[in-house]
Amino acid sequence: MRAMHTSFDETLPQRIVDDLAEYGWSRQDCFLPEALTAALALECRRRAAVGELAPAAIGRGDAQEVRESIRGDLTQWIDPGQATCTDEYLVLMDGLREALNRGLFLGLEDFECHFALYPAGAFYKRHLDRFRDDDRRMVSAVLYLNHGWREGHGGELRLYFKDGSTLDVPPRGGCLVVFLSGELPHEVLPAGCERLSLTGWFRRRGSEPF
Ligand code: OGA
Ligand code: MN
Repeated sequence: MRAMHTSFDETLPQRIVDDLAEYGWSRQDCFLPEALTAALALECRRRAAVGELAPAAIGRGDAQEVRESIRGDLTQWIDPGQATCTDEYLVLMDGLREALNRGLFLGLEDFECHFALYPAGAFYKRHLDRFRDDDRRMVSAVLYLNHGWREGHGGELRLYFKDGSTLDVPPRGGCLVVFLSGELPHEVLPAGCERLSLTGWFRRRGSEPF
């Protein structure tokens, strides 16, 4: 039997919409039931163990290149039908997409996401989640899969706000951070030990074919 990981808090999408409208970002420390977070972490580790994760590239299309001086994570894209846990996550994120469209009129058409594994020592320098040649990414959503993360493990997400302040978010399992892709610069501080996440982007229709 396919295991379902239910008990999702149905009030969360609206709270995220409200936060985005007011602050441009949202942090939900208990976005997912623990069982679903655990299943996703297991799936990420399984993929890593069979060599499915590959060094992440920066840029898009022909301009893509791997540069470990900028980011050192390994990633793999998630598609529907690969595993029960990833399918459940895609369903939840589609609900969030609809809430974002209802509340913020963003016209989001799809959600793309990948597992990311940062080996110890890996980081991702300060950046925006928008490509110069592709502005379809509107809202970023990062889910953390690190059960038992503790102070000193590193790999915090550092957010850079317009007023010059910064905030470091610990990548604790089950926590979801959502922000406007083109507006909030951020970086991943060096991971002290292996760091898992599931990073995705809600996109609107592009002006160019893809
Ligand atoms: C990214 C990113 C943040 C994180 O993949 O673009 O910024 O905390 N990830 O994993
Ligand atoms: Mn990013």
